[in-house]
Amino acid sequence: MKIELVPSILSSDFSQLGAQAQQAIEAGGSVLHVDVMDGHFVPNLTVGPPVVRSLRKVIQVPMDCHLMIENPDLFIPEFAEAGADWISVHQEACEHLDRTLHLISSHGCKPGVVINPATPVEMLTEVLDLVHHVLVMSVNPGFGGQKFIPNSLNKIAALARMRGERKLEFRIEVDGGVDLTTVGDVVKAGAELLVAGNAVFGHGDVRTNAAKLLETARSATFARA
Ligand code: DX5
Ligand code: ZN
Repeated sequence: MKIELVPSILSSDFSQLGAQAQQAIEAGGSVLHVDVMDGHFVPNLTVGPPVVRSLRKVIQVPMDCHLMIENPDLFIPEFAEAGADWISVHQEACEHLDRTLHLISSHGCKPGVVINPATPVEMLTEVLDLVHHVLVMSVNPGFGGQKFIPNSLNKIAALARMRGERKLEFRIEVDGGVDLTTVGDVVKAGAELLVAGNAVFGHGDVRTNAAKLLETARSATFARA
């Protein structure tokens, strides 16, 4: 299992977006996380396809678009065309989740499914063989800089067990409150794609923050072995 740091641009300085994203990648970020919010599914607004299209020109690593929006089917083609590599949708926002995941694949992107803190992992039983990644929200979605919800560790561990029992290959991603104090437990529970916004962009030097977080995550891997 490859531990990867997935910087989330939500907490970056948007006047320096391209440069800050590149700094986080130079320091070890290997996937870039883009939070898309519509003011309906979550109580906040962020960015859409034009920003993905601009980032695509300067970012070489995969772009991971986390859609926190209602009716994601309406926007999936445009995000794919703008240059998204991975697209994830919330189980809670999709009436026809199977159809939506196939729609993402049909546009050449890797499909992911996301669950909120109050949604049990069992809600994903029937789609685990369709997804490239499962994203466990470890805060209620909508804002950066929130506190990690400890029960997320049980959900990550349960997904890792289900993956092993069913011999599946989906990757486990975690998003919300991942920082130097929580990343070790998150990795030990079984997550490998570590989204971090505030811990990378919220204060101090982006490169130093990203490098330190990744190093701390990787040391926890060794502890687990
Ligand atoms: C929250 C977003 C996250 C956010 C995480 O709804 O999905 O990706 O950027 O931010 P931190 O790492 O600050 O908790
Ligand atoms: Zn996110």
